[in-house]
Amino acid sequence: MAKIAPSILAADFAKLGSEVADICKGGCDFIHVDVMDGAFVPNISFGSAVMKSLNGYATVPYDVHLMIENPDQYLEEFVTDSTAYITVHYEACPHICRTLSHIKEHGVKAGVSINPGTPVSCLEAVLPFVDMVLVMSVNPGFGGQKFIPETAKKVSQLNKLRKDNGYNFEIEVDGGVSDKNSGLLISCGADILVAGSAVFKHEDRAEAIMRIKKVDA
Ligand code: DX5
Ligand code: ZN
Repeated sequence: MAKIAPSILAADFAKLGSEVADICKGGCDFIHVDVMDGAFVPNISFGSAVMKSLNGYATVPYDVHLMIENPDQYLEEFVTDSTAYITVHYEACPHICRTLSHIKEHGVKAGVSINPGTPVSCLEAVLPFVDMVLVMSVNPGFGGQKFIPETAKKVSQLNKLRKDNGYNFEIEVDGGVSDKNSGLLISCGADILVAGSAVFKHEDRAEAIMRIKKVDA
């Protein structure tokens, strides 16, 4: 069954602790932490202090998505006992293999993300070493954007490469994911679905999570 990682970018920041407790109770698998620096993407979100302030509320691990330039400088800040994944952008890392190694050296799983304009072929050399590939299905920077349907093809391509070569990485999709497209993404091979608005803007988060996961109530 696909796992779900709600993005707290869509939560009410004034009550982030209880928002996080609510989605954990609702059955999410990870907390997706969207970090934006106003340089790699045209928006600023929050840093590691906000994530760490949630330690008493989150009962599932963090899935950290760094949409920042020079991520090597900040990796360590996001390493906690509850950090499962740290994902960096292929487009922001001139030495991507080194950056992925740095993440792994901290005992955290390493992910690489590609923007909608970056083809899967760019990842050929790193696929044997990554724990996760995050396919952006919107241009990163903002929550609540429209899903770009062409990105589903990349999920199928990655799934085929994984099967053909015996690779072990997980495939995550992020941006505009809802119960309208989650079935397609799961059938293409997605393992983890990120959903911000579709979870947090729904009054019953448990129901929203079940619908995205395609679990019958
Ligand atoms: C976009 C972020 C996403 C986004 C998801 O830059 O990486 O995680 O906030 O939010 P929705 O599901 O609202 O598109
Ligand atoms: Zn994200």
